[in-house]
Amino acid sequence: MKIGVLTGGGDCPGLNAVIRAIVRKGSFHYNDEFIGFIEGWRGLVENQTMDLGLDTVAAILPRGGTILRTSRTNPAKHEGGLQKCAEHLKKNGCDALIAIGGDDTLSVAKKLFDNGVKVIGVPKTIDNDLAGTDFTFGFDTAVNIASDAIDRLHTTAEAHNRVIVVEVMGRSAGWIATYSGIAGGAHVILIPEVPFDIDEVSALIKQRHARGRYFSIVVAAEGARFGGALATREGASTDRDEFGHPRLGGIGQTVAAEIEKRTGFESRSVVLGHVQRGGTPSAFDRVLATRYGLGAIDMMHRGEFGQMAALRGNKIISIPLAEAISSNRKVDKDILDAATGILEKLKAGNA
Ligand code: F6P
Repeated sequence: MKIGVLTGGGDCPGLNAVIRAIVRKGSFHYNDEFIGFIEGWRGLVENQTMDLGLDTVAAILPRGGTILRTSRTNPAKHEGGLQKCAEHLKKNGCDALIAIGGDDTLSVAKKLFDNGVKVIGVPKTIDNDLAGTDFTFGFDTAVNIASDAIDRLHTTAEAHNRVIVVEVMGRSAGWIATYSGIAGGAHVILIPEVPFDIDEVSALIKQRHARGRYFSIVVAAEGARFGGALATREGASTDRDEFGHPRLGGIGQTVAAEIEKRTGFESRSVVLGHVQRGGTPSAFDRVLATRYGLGAIDMMHRGEFGQMAALRGNKIISIPLAEAISSNRKVDKDILDAATGILEKLKAGNA
């Protein structure tokens, strides 16, 4: 078969490991040929391609980013974009496409499949918010980076008797905040799934300091809402992407200022931002990404189009793309139960 491959949406540690696994197994085992469409759906809409062979994927396993580069291009927002995708696959002699991405990328993949294109999806996002799969690759690396940062912030917060608010990514889900908050021993964790009241957060920090602990670490997911509102960077023309998502950011600074106002404790905020997405993937993500790539190429040869490789328990399975994009996966109760910094538990005194 000749197969097109693209990576769409925000980059994510492990993308290169997926590409490598697809190309190696496809070439060695199935005698496939590959072509890369560069910069996500933009490459397919504009017919921008690159060679994708065994030489291209040599030594890319530990590399962050994506050799195919990426973008948040939405073909549906471009004149005839979806038709162009199908035409350019045909023009390049491709029998099928593997799209590696999050819910936006996979929602386009689903539309193409509905229009007769043979497409298979691979789930990618540091946010871990895709339905139908237990973990997306990239999440583990982001959590490791965030918990390492929290460890470091502990010592400086303690040395200065400060409250430090760490803002982490995750869009409308609190997976990175909850996992890194648990791993880093954060005192308060603010996530979109659990509404918070800043007076209660401040009162709890005061109580903690009254017990002789003169510093606190607060982890705030970028999608946590202050007074019910999302903190966004609206204004400039680039502040909403082609899928309509606002650029999130600023909750950490607001929370730090409001805590300082209410408690009198000196407070600082730190935004981890794209550091969470950059650099080399963790060993866990390299293995998971490799397994997703192998799963996807096997699905291709079983003819499981319109499907996505997913992780359930410790098995890679195949699920409909429709299921993966049906909803945004929120932090589940079992994980919340393990987090001592979640506000509801702190209030109940069982943290
Ligand atoms: O979806 C991944 C993600 O990293 C989100 O956590 C974050 O809100 C967004 O991408 C940032 O996007 P950009 O790289 O376009 O600023």
